[in-house]
Amino acid sequence: MHLVKSIDVLLTMDPSRPGALGGLENGAVLMDGERIVWCGRSSEAPDAEFVVDGTGYIGMPGLVDCHTHMTWAGSRADEFRRRLAGENYTDILESGGGILSTVAATRAASLEWLTEVTVERLHRALSHGVTTVEIKSGYGLEKQAERRQLVAARSAGEKVGVSVLTTFLGAHTVPAEWRDKRAGYTQDVIVNQLPYVADVADFIDVYVDRGAFSVAEGKAILEAGQAMGLGARVHAEQVAYTGAAQMAAGLGALSADHLEQLDEAGVKAMAEAGTVAVLLPGAMLYLKDPAPPIAELRAAGVRMAVATDFNPGSSPVSDLWTCVSLACISMGLTIEEALKGVTINAALALGLSDRGVIREGMRADLALFRPPPGEPVSEAVLVQHMGGHKADHVWAQGRKLV
Ligand code: NIG
Ligand code: FE
Repeated sequence: MHLVKSIDVLLTMDPSRPGALGGLENGAVLMDGERIVWCGRSSEAPDAEFVVDGTGYIGMPGLVDCHTHMTWAGSRADEFRRRLAGENYTDILESGGGILSTVAATRAASLEWLTEVTVERLHRALSHGVTTVEIKSGYGLEKQAERRQLVAARSAGEKVGVSVLTTFLGAHTVPAEWRDKRAGYTQDVIVNQLPYVADVADFIDVYVDRGAFSVAEGKAILEAGQAMGLGARVHAEQVAYTGAAQMAAGLGALSADHLEQLDEAGVKAMAEAGTVAVLLPGAMLYLKDPAPPIAELRAAGVRMAVATDFNPGSSPVSDLWTCVSLACISMGLTIEEALKGVTINAALALGLSDRGVIREGMRADLALFRPPPGEPVSEAVLVQHMGGHKADHVWAQGRKLV
């Protein structure tokens, strides 16, 4: 058994404890194998064989990055330059660049290469205290390349020891060879790709937007995925308003993500269905989009998660801590909302109730952070100082990885 004790500030995220983040001063966590078996004040901690001193640290559940496109090949630095010069994301996509340029590079990459690059990216995430990552396909857009991405993502997770959940996103955009037959491509996703990848995917996602898929196409694809046992999530209301969030909520989707253009009816539908709002401030910043309607989501009681959307185009942001700060600064979340957004609520966006909280019975995912030099041991400091926070100790399912 491993005991971590004398943690100055332990954010358990446990709703049954007092305080917005279930915080404990001088906290302790006891882990036995893959599980947490006890959590409380250090003065009441049981004895253990191995003891780690948490003095000077902020402790929290291993972070959950619940929306990424981490497995890709190629670079979009040239496109970034074009966007800085005034071209916009959707026009570049519609003229064959953007996501489509990443598709060309990813199709040409081997399983080994995709696995290796994902391993490197996951190591970076882990260094920031992230122990669970969702990774989408969507840069293959034909069955073999889609499957290769999903397999690479899963095996990279096994190699690094981070828990990876995979999402099939064959409906990311219509590939060039189907450009003039888009109804045919939607059928290809449902009939050919989905059955070919379903055993290596946990979820299904669709990018519903101008220049991507319609609400009706998205609904058909999500329903087909649900029928094969995959949880539904959707890229909704990002660039143009479409009604995708309402559609997703109607299907009982786990999450609707982006939401910059979300309307009142969408907020209401998500609240009723318990669909989690996944906020992606990296994409909002890079695409110069307006903020999602945070006050309305909050008032309606919609749970909010925060993720990186890490991808080579709209959000080349690998550091979840940067997104925590941006969610507060550019979207208006409170410090507590942002921290719940990368722990308990991010786990719920993935349908997981075994992590994101430090409590007896939960997965032993724990990260310890020192505040920046000269700053007090307080969670507010980690959010105020943007990004780059390296975890000093990380346990993932009880394994000490950092
Ligand atoms: O979440 N919006 C669509 N999909 C991704 C972008 C992926 C890309 O640009 O390569 C997103 O922003
Ligand atoms: Fe995305």
